[in-house]
Amino acid sequence: MNYACPVHEIPTLEPLALGISKNDRYIALRRYIQLLIEGEPDWLANLANVAAAINEHVPALNWAGFYLMRGDELVLGPFQGRPACIRIAVGRGVCGTAAALQVSQVVPDVTAFPGHIACDVRSRSEIVVPIVVGGLTVGVLDLDSAKLANFDIEDRRALETIVNDLKPHIDWAAATRV
Ligand code: SME
Repeated sequence: MNYACPVHEIPTLEPLALGISKNDRYIALRRYIQLLIEGEPDWLANLANVAAAINEHVPALNWAGFYLMRGDELVLGPFQGRPACIRIAVGRGVCGTAAALQVSQVVPDVTAFPGHIACDVRSRSEIVVPIVVGGLTVGVLDLDSAKLANFDIEDRRALETIVNDLKPHIDWAAATRV
């Protein structure tokens, strides 16, 4: 095992922060995440680095992270942001809806989403992408913003692609073990 820190060998995305299109930003973020997780088998380390990379490089976030299916509910996983609700029933809130329907939820105004669970009062808009493996929901990726309508179809497509890239790098049986 090589214990050098690979993060130091990966170019950061900082120079890209100003003035690039959303599409170009997501292309760079996707590549960055691939470099962070490739060759690393530890699911917890990988989910933690992905949450951190997204939080650093998607504009106007106040929370980014994962909920993992544990038994019949979603339980808080690796994230960046303020401490959050720990357990969410499938079918409840934006996360539970994405998990139940296995369809991404783009919520431009959280106050208009029936049953939205307010973990951080600053959150105004939200996007949740379900993580489905072998037909089963194993978790969700959740991003919150203090800006109204911070997410659109482009964010949805890009984050779904990032989730698909991530799937083979996570031991989902271990990550969802109760
Ligand atoms: N707002 C989410 C709860 C999770 S927090 O945003 C981190 C929901 O309604 O499911």
